[in-house]
Amino acid sequence: MSTSKISLCLLLCLSFFTCINSDELQILLNLKTSLKDSKSNIFSSWVSNNHFCNFTGITCNSNRSSVQEIELSDRNLTGTVPFDSICQLQALNKLSLGFNSLYGTISKDLNNCVKLQYLDLGNNFFSGSFPDISSLSELQHLYLNLSGFSGVFPWTSLGNMTNLVSLSVGDNPFDPTPFPNQVVKLNKLSWLYLANCSIEGRIPVEIGNLTELINLELSDNNISGEIPSEIGNLVKLWQLELYNNQLSGKLPVGLRNLTNLANFDASANFLQGDLSEVRFLTNLVTLQLFENQFSGEVPAELGKFKKLVNLSLFTNKLTGALPQELGSWADFDFIDVSENLGTMKILLMLQNNFTGEIPASYSNCLTLERFRVSNNSLKGTVPAGIWGLPKVTIIDLALNQIEGSITQDIENAKSLAQLFAGYNRLSGELPEEISKATSLVAIELNNNQFSGKIPASIGELKQLSSLKLQNNMLSGSIPESMGSCDSLSDLNMAHNLLSGQIPSSFGLLPTLNSLILSENKLSGQVAELF
Ligand SMILES: *[C@@H]1O[C@H](CO)[C@@H](O)[C@H](O)[C@H]1NC(C)=O
Ligand SMILES: *[C@@H]1O[C@H](CO)[C@@H](O)[C@H](O)[C@H]1NC(C)=O
Ligand SMILES: *[C@@H]1O[C@H](CO)[C@@H](O)[C@H](O)[C@H]1NC(C)=O
Ligand SMILES: *[C@@H]1O[C@H](CO)[C@@H](O)[C@H](O)[C@H]1NC(C)=O
Ligand SMILES: *[C@@H]1O[C@H](CO)[C@@H](O)[C@H](O)[C@H]1NC(C)=O
Ligand SMILES: *[C@@H]1O[C@H](CO)[C@@H](O)[C@H](O)[C@H]1NC(C)=O
Ligand SMILES: *[C@@H]1O[C@H](CO)[C@@H](O)[C@H](O)[C@H]1NC(C)=O
Ligand SMILES: *[C@@H]1O[C@H](CO)[C@@H](O)[C@H](O)[C@H]1NC(C)=O
Ligand SMILES: *[C@@H]1O[C@H](CO)[C@@H](O)[C@H](O)[C@H]1NC(C)=O
Ligand SMILES: *[C@@H]1O[C@H](CO)[C@@H](O)[C@H](O)[C@H]1NC(C)=O
Ligand SMILES: *[C@@H]1O[C@H](CO)[C@@H](O)[C@H](O)[C@H]1NC(C)=O
Ligand SMILES: *[C@@H]1O[C@H](CO)[C@@H](O)[C@H](O)[C@H]1NC(C)=O
Repeated sequence: MSTSKISLCLLLCLSFFTCINSDELQILLNLKTSLKDSKSNIFSSWVSNNHFCNFTGITCNSNRSSVQEIELSDRNLTGTVPFDSICQLQALNKLSLGFNSLYGTISKDLNNCVKLQYLDLGNNFFSGSFPDISSLSELQHLYLNLSGFSGVFPWTSLGNMTNLVSLSVGDNPFDPTPFPNQVVKLNKLSWLYLANCSIEGRIPVEIGNLTELINLELSDNNISGEIPSEIGNLVKLWQLELYNNQLSGKLPVGLRNLTNLANFDASANFLQGDLSEVRFLTNLVTLQLFENQFSGEVPAELGKFKKLVNLSLFTNKLTGALPQELGSWADFDFIDVSENLGTMKILLMLQNNFTGEIPASYSNCLTLERFRVSNNSLKGTVPAGIWGLPKVTIIDLALNQIEGSITQDIENAKSLAQLFAGYNRLSGELPEEISKATSLVAIELNNNQFSGKIPASIGELKQLSSLKLQNNMLSGSIPESMGSCDSLSDLNMAHNLLSGQIPSSFGLLPTLNSLILSENKLSGQVAELF
């Protein structure tokens, strides 16, 4: 080859290169103009004397001739997206603009981005309906969740996207639609987020074909009918969210096969039958089935699930005993049972028909934060240690038939903000040590059989806002120190045996709203204090 031929070739190459270069550069500078209101200053590198492949958020191909990726998610961007020009970037395979404040409608020009494998427009403020995108047949990840789209979603476009792995279009106010049958043909899907996007009718049995699914979220729709048993084929599922629909029938046989399930929530439906299918789901971290019509006993196995953190079964028709142990490690031979610390944080079993006593093992569950078993038929005494659980923020035992007293160990309850134990058969004196539970905001011990004096130390509860002690047999005088409970706004001690003067210190309480002291043997006028 002659030198001149080589130079000619080089020249051609160079001009070709420059030509592509300037196109790509122009398109990006145009994008910068459209998104000019950025607070994040990322466009400072987007200047024409910098190579466009060096622009923040831009990734090029290896010879730096064309843009392959635009990654500008979570950058405080506002403005509209000029798809007409962006989709002239012929090598663009990733467009990530999620978690910004972008607005406007999405034009059909998006269809020219035919190489796209990753499209994230989620978590923005777009409007209008989303266009048909049938030509984006190489898409693997599509995120449009919580982006303001409405109208009819172009489900038919998904027919071409046979490689789709993630599909997230939930949290958009689409027109009501049956479950889109295009979706159950996408057999590579591992992530499906269709929550809160107006789906109604049944879950199709073909859902069982999506055997790669790890996450399936259909909550906050209007889905009715039964949960299909084919869901048991989805053995890779890690999360199954079905809450807030109109589902009825029983938990399907086959659910037991979902042994990788960590999070399962079918709360707020019309589900019934027992919980026996749940016995096998040993890897559960959260199990929430509240506000249904489940009946029968809670399977004992639940107490042995080592990873269980949240167990929320409230407002059902469950019977029998509360499960023994909580997130138990007891079957690990090398750990002494006395060191069984548990993993449970949230135990919400209120509004059922549980009987028996609170298991003594619960006092080992030092991780417990919320303990609510009110409105059942529990009996017996509260096991030693429960009153003083170090992380517990709420203890709710109200509306049972629990006996015994509040023990001194309540001094260890440093996180306790709400103590609800009204309408039981609790008795004995209130311990002085209650004043060491300094996080207390609300105490409701009304309608029990407490007796003796109100401890003078109660004045140390500076956060205490509501104190309900009515309908007990408390006697002696009201401690003057109660006037130091600076946050007190709601005080009811009616129907006790209290005597003596109403403390003048009550007049100093800055936020006292309601004071009820009737049916005692007190003297002095409340009105004179204010
Ligand atoms: C977005 O803006 C907020 C304040 O408006 C700022 O705190 C935050 O760091 C910004 N984020 C980015 C990625 O620039
Ligand atoms: C782009 O960045 C590369 C290395 O990251 C650097 O060598 C080059 O000089 C930069 N080009 C421009 C035009 O800034
Ligand atoms: C750069 O690489 C792409 C493939 O990634 C190729 O199609 C293109 O021709 C190359 N351009 C130049 C100027 O070498
Ligand atoms: C919502 O979209 C964002 C991207 O915008 C994505 O990171 C997130 O995983 C999506 N949420 C769900 C539940 O799919
Ligand atoms: C997408 O599918 C439609 C039929 O639904 C077909 O007409 C079109 O050619 C397909 N597009 C691509 C890019 O495959
Ligand atoms: C449902 O989606 C709407 C947007 O359409 C959103 O405002 C709302 O917060 C979502 N609801 C839930 C429970 O996430
Ligand atoms: C999908 O599921 C249905 C019913 O469960 C079944 O009859 C069909 O063969 C499945 N299709 C594919 C492609 O696996
Ligand atoms: C749910 O569907 C029922 C009919 O099945 C309808 O009466 C109801 O209005 C729908 N609710 C919502 C929130 O769309
Ligand atoms: C659970 O899976 C096993 C093994 O794959 C299978 O034999 C059994 O039929 C499945 N059980 C149900 C109830 O689907
Ligand atoms: C448990 O439930 C609480 C609220 O009830 C929630 O904030 C927390 O994230 C849940 N924990 C897990 C591991 O999901
Ligand atoms: C107690 O639970 C029953 C249902 O078991 C319910 O009807 C009743 O309203 C609940 N009582 C309170 C005070 O919440
Ligand atoms: C609780 O169970 C008993 C029988 O054990 C039954 O008589 C009673 O009606 C049930 N209460 C509720 C509220 O379901």
